[in-house]
Parts: sequence; structure tokens; C-alpha cells
Amino acid sequence: MGRDWMDNKTVIITGASGGMGKGVAEKLIKEHGCTVIGIARSEEKMKKVVEELGDYADKFSYQLFDVAVEQNWLDFVTYLNENNIKPDVLINNAGILPKFDRFQNYTVEYIKKAMDINFYSAVYSIHALLPILLESDSPAIINIDSSAALMTLAGTSVYSASKAALKSLSEALREELRGKCYVGIVCPGFTKTDIFRDQDSADAKAQKMLNMVSTSCDRMVKMIMNDIKTKKPLGVHGFDAAFMNYFGRVMPVQGGRLFSAVMKMSKLPLFDGVFKD
Ligand SMILES: NC(=O)c1ccc[n+]([C@@H]2O[C@H](COP(=O)([O-])OP(=O)(O)OC[C@H]3O[C@@H](n4cnc5c(N)ncnc54)[C@H](OP(=O)(O)O)[C@@H]3O)[C@@H](O)[C@H]2O)c1
Repeated sequence: MGRDWMDNKTVIITGASGGMGKGVAEKLIKEHGCTVIGIARSEEKMKKVVEELGDYADKFSYQLFDVAVEQNWLDFVTYLNENNIKPDVLINNAGILPKFDRFQNYTVEYIKKAMDINFYSAVYSIHALLPILLESDSPAIINIDSSAALMTLAGTSVYSASKAALKSLSEALREELRGKCYVGIVCPGFTKTDIFRDQDSADAKAQKMLNMVSTSCDRMVKMIMNDIKTKKPLGVHGFDAAFMNYFGRVMPVQGGRLFSAVMKMSKLPLFDGVFKD
């Protein structure tokens, strides 16, 4: 300890009750002596995080709120000020993966909900917290984006739109805050977490396919930690993410068609809503 810029910092991380957020929170605490404030909705899951932290639990506290509601962020700032907590780092990680489906099958209400959680949560958190972060000696904002921001596949219109919006926002901030605040974007590919709970992955073939292309959560967390440690401007992780990065740049139109053909050929129920008439 004592060698990395984020050692002993105070970090706010959304979605710390599970998946990658939980993994990153644990590493920041155990390997970097950070004080972490985790945000999510489920107290049950947060209590488990505290329990698993064991001797390190005093370095972790949590706030239970929906990141998609702006007022919650304003109240959170009041809480920080009242308790004289001065965060250095904000990690926007909370997110949902809508079921793979055709655009027209999503209700407008659902699309707004997904945008609120995956995109507007970062708008609200950064807007509310940036003035406080900038008081730190080494402020940082890290947005956990997705390979879906690098290339859009059929069936992912809403998720990709939310993550592309997050990427654009982050890229502008990176330039606007250059020299004042580290802004990092992380684009993971499929990673083994509970995020697939809404997909039709009970199907054994789909599960096998997802497992084949997915990176383990531990491995992804290690790569995210390395991005943060080295203040990487953009991290693209997982072989599927590397593919999408390549095809998104080199053949943005034909690439989408190619992926559609592969998805159709797989005949997985997972993609039924997208391709079956
Ligand atoms: N797993 C993947 O394949 C993958 C790939 C690329 C990008 N990503 C991105 O990586 C991030 C983390 O994903 P993950 O796979 O670790 O997901 P996960 O296991 O489902 O965890 C999501 C976390 O976000 C929290 N959360 C969700 N909605 C929330 C809300 N409205 N308000 C507050 N907290 C909320 C959840 O906590 P509560 O349920 O307690 O609220 C949970 O802690 C997401 O932004 C996701 O889009 C994931």
C-alpha cells in the first residue's frame, strides 16, 4: 500500500451490492485502504457485502437509494456535507441489461426507465458531485460503460443507446476536465454476473453460449482495477468487446449484419423476440 494514486481515497461506487461493483469495492478497500460508500437498493445484498468484508467492514458504508432519481443524489450530497465526508472518486457502475428484444416490443415507459438507470444516473451523480470531487487533490470519475457502446447489435437498441450516451458524455467530460479530474471509461464485454437475470437464459444452450463468451467477474474486476490504477482513458475488456470494438470501427454496417446472421443461426430462444415473426 501507499504506492498507487487511489490508495486511501474516499470512493463512492454505485451498484456496490453485487457483480463488478461489489468486486471493485472489495479490492479498493482490501488492496488500497480506501474508504468506500456503496450505493444500491437492496439492504439484504449490502448486509452480505459487509459480512463478507469481515475485518475490513469498517471501511465500507452504504446508502440505499435508486440512482435513477435526481432528488436522491441531491439528498446524498446533503448527507455528505452534513457528515463532512469529502469523496475523491466517483464510480458510476449501477446498470441494468434489458431483455434482448426488438425495439418495438419495449414500452416507452420501460425505455425511459432503462435510460434513467444506465445514463441519467451518471448525469445526476456527476452534476451533483463534481464540485465536491474537484476539491480533492486527485479527483476521479470512472464510468462503467459496455461493449454495447462500441457497436450496436439487433436486440440491444435500448441498452446500446443508454451506454452510447454514457460513452459520449464521458468523452466530453474527459476533455473538459483534462488536467483537473481523471475521467475513465470502461467497456466490459459479457461478464458472469447476475445482470442476465432478465434474459431467457434458463435455456441450457443459451446459458452455455453466454458462459462461453463471458469473462469471469473476478477477472473483469482485475482489469477494471488496472484501468483505474493506470488512469486509463478507455478500457475495452473481454474478447467479445475487442470484436465489437473492431467491427464497430472497421465495418459499422456490415458488422451489424454479420452479428445478426450469427445470432439467427444460433437459433437460441434468447434471440426469439428479436428475429422471430
Ligand atoms: N455483466 C456484463 O456482462 C456487463 C457487460 C458490460 C457492461 N456491464 C455493465 O457493468 C455494470 C455492472 O454490471 P454487473 O454485471 O455487475 O450487474 P449486476 O450484477 O446486476 O449488479 C448491478 C448493480 O447495480 C445495482 N443497481 C441496479 N439498478 C439500480 C438502481 N436503479 N439504483 C441503484 N442501484 C442499482 C444493483 O443493486 P441493487 O439490486 O441492490 O439495487 C447491483 O448492485 C452495469 O452498468 C452494466 O451495464 C455489464
